[in-house]
Amino acid sequence: MRATISALAHYVPEDVYDNHWFAERIDTTDEWIRTRTGIKERHFLKEGGVSEILTKAAIKCLERRGIGPEEVDCIIVASVTPDRIFPATAAIVQRKIGAVNAWGFDLAAACSGFLNALVTAAKLVESGAVRNVLLCSGDKMSAILDFTDRATSVLFGDGGGAVFVEPSADESLGIVDFILRMDGNGEPHLHQKAGGSMRPPTAETVANREHFVYQEGQTVFKSAVIGMADVSYEIMERNKLTSDDVAWLVPHQANLRIIDATANRMGLSADKVMVNIDRYGNTTAGTIPICLSELYEGGKVHKGDYLVLSSFGAGYTWGAILLRWSIPDIS
Ligand code: UT7
Repeated sequence: MRATISALAHYVPEDVYDNHWFAERIDTTDEWIRTRTGIKERHFLKEGGVSEILTKAAIKCLERRGIGPEEVDCIIVASVTPDRIFPATAAIVQRKIGAVNAWGFDLAAACSGFLNALVTAAKLVESGAVRNVLLCSGDKMSAILDFTDRATSVLFGDGGGAVFVEPSADESLGIVDFILRMDGNGEPHLHQKAGGSMRPPTAETVANREHFVYQEGQTVFKSAVIGMADVSYEIMERNKLTSDDVAWLVPHQANLRIIDATANRMGLSADKVMVNIDRYGNTTAGTIPICLSELYEGGKVHKGDYLVLSSFGAGYTWGAILLRWSIPDIS
């Protein structure tokens, strides 16, 4: 049995913050942000936690699949900005959507959250342990951004998506292959300093602004360029696909220069690379499901298409998934 994505949807909060909004408040410019990252604007959620985003995406995803919430067997939430450290945001989403028969859990793999969760969901389905998984993946990065730090605050946005994973009716379609990697030596370069059990919150950690994203941008950049390009190329090669066979590269949206390097390594032209970083910035676990949902809604992906999904992020964690699209065109 092979698992597939049978329905999907996304949600991005309405409120838009463009680069000029930052330039009026901190020492940055629209030009710097655009040329170094590709970002023009991002969206921030004003009220509520990440479950607000994921619930909206989940409800729309189930509507598209044409089933009720009580038919969901398992909910996985991929996020590094859960509503609370506990209980799992999966339980909060379960209550909000009324998925009374579902169990579930949260998974934290930062920018690779969606890929790790999609592989987990596929294997749960393929083993027969569950009939289906509602995978909700996204982040409210504005909750952990230091808006006085120009090196990180301009990079991220809020948003996410939901995908329904179940057995593929056609064995040739669905999640074909995956490569997932991890290197814990990345921790010093990208992390949140305080708030966990190693450094619980105190007046001092708050005063020192330790509850925000800390990133050594250039160091992460160098590893990301190599890591994302390597796995994207490897998954194509080991499945004996050429750049002609791949319909879309759907990359994590952290930096347009990392995306370009990955596409170049795969020999893909720009028209086969999904990019929306200009509108949303880096939504961490949200980037790939938002991209997939926009491709679907735009009628740009068709049944039988080969898609390479790839990411690189905190941990470090990185990877690629080869997906053969199984959903008929949106009507
Ligand atoms: O999604 C999770 C994984 N994360 C990533 O993949 C992100 C990887 N890293 C990056 O995308 C890039 O490293 C950044 C976009 C974060 C930074 O770009 P960069 O080209 O690596 O710039 P840099 O950090 O080397 O900084 C260059 C200069 C520095 O000034 P000096 O030292 O040359 O005088 C920075 O202080 O740019 C300065 N700078 C800024 N200037 C204006 C840093 N942030 C800003 C800013 N506006 N917002």
